Amino acid sequence: MKILGIETSCDETGVCIIETENDSVGSKIKILGNQLYSQIAIHAQYGGVYPMMAKREHALNLTPQLEKCLEEAGMKKDSRFMIRDSRKERIKEILARENDLSEDLIELIEKIEKPDIDAIAVTNGPGLEPALWVGICFAKALSEAWNIPIIPVNHMEGHVVVAMLQRECGILNSECKETNIQHPTFNIQSPNYPVIALLISGGHTQLVLSKENQKYEIIGSTRDDAIGEAFDKVARILGLPYPGGPQISKLAEKDRLEHPHDSASGPRKSAFPLPRPMIHSHDLNFSFSGIKTAVLYTVQKITLNSSSQKDESGEHFSEKNVLAKLTDSIKQEIAREFEDAVVEVIIKKTQQAVEQYGAQTIIIGGGVSANKKIRSDFAKLAEDIHVELMIPEFSASTDNAFMIAVAGYLNILSGKKPETDFKANGNLSL
Ligand code: KG4
Ligand code: ZN
Repeated sequence: MKILGIETSCDETGVCIIETENDSVGSKIKILGNQLYSQIAIHAQYGGVYPMMAKREHALNLTPQLEKCLEEAGMKKDSRFMIRDSRKERIKEILARENDLSEDLIELIEKIEKPDIDAIAVTNGPGLEPALWVGICFAKALSEAWNIPIIPVNHMEGHVVVAMLQRECGILNSECKETNIQHPTFNIQSPNYPVIALLISGGHTQLVLSKENQKYEIIGSTRDDAIGEAFDKVARILGLPYPGGPQISKLAEKDRLEHPHDSASGPRKSAFPLPRPMIHSHDLNFSFSGIKTAVLYTVQKITLNSSSQKDESGEHFSEKNVLAKLTDSIKQEIAREFEDAVVEVIIKKTQQAVEQYGAQTIIIGGGVSANKKIRSDFAKLAEDIHVELMIPEFSASTDNAFMIAVAGYLNILSGKKPETDFKANGNLSL
């Protein structure tokens, strides 16, 4: 089976084509083409993602990404594909709100042969609704043009299932051509149940219990900010660019290298201690907005102590004044303490969930799972408490269309029927 995956829930425009073998659980998945266009550079100048800007960028980039993906998959065959006028009208209707996209897409469809694709998997939530709609309309237009069924996919399920893939060979993106491994191949590993999935991204922090294949129950979640959001906001307080997660992680790592833990003098104490929010709450919920505020107060205190002078605006705490007082080594120290604090909390809560539900496997998914400390601390936890750990490979941790294609495939295997009349749902739950 060949599946086209489409992802536009936030600031990554992803298009991927996979080919599956055996078509049963335990089957192999081969990536035929995988394109990802990151909008980060565009959003970075504003310090975060603007939904309408994300939507516009998806609309501009989806068709070129699809064309490249088909080419990479060896499926772009030039020929004239006649679309009947009535069908063309329906495609235009579907893309009525996406003018640029409509023209580009019809032009592409008319110049290539219908590719050999069996199903389209598209993210229908959660995420930014304007951004989700572009991907959905794009999928519906392709479905209309090529008469291919669509399976709507929950983005968070994509983050879960991509952790279950074990690479056989190759690498994830188009670089594989250079190594002569045309198509990276993965095996789907079925986890031992029950599974506790920790989903950590820019919009989510959830603990999910799964007792059987593709059945999910949310057993804990954040009461306020998501963990990725906290990374991004703390980075902003420290004057670091968006997205802040990788920036904080780099600084924290540098600090650990430069100031390794000194065991002779007992446990390391940070010069800027931060709270471990809800670590003793006895439930499985999280809260990350307080720690962000604690970082802000810490930074303001540093400014106040280092100078009693006001800046030209008469403010002690103007952003300019605050950032000027933050030396690189202070930023590193705060980044490290912040990372230590949030990782301690997610480790403790995950362990608690594993014990409470007798879980055999921990799955970590979502963009924050790219974090090195999280990867190494969870590997240690899994070893200590004798559970299996499944974590996506680094390049598949953050948003991509590969995970959407794989989730679509597993949904088809478990009997999910194609849909035509579905909507974007920004708050879609697992
Ligand atoms: O899953 P994802 O790509 O998009 C959403 O669905 O939200 O996650 C993006 C989030 C951002 O908040 C980003 O800062 C965070 O993942 N992130 C990281 C790292 N890489 C990405 N956070 C901590 N450490 C990282 N290395
Ligand atoms: Zn995501």
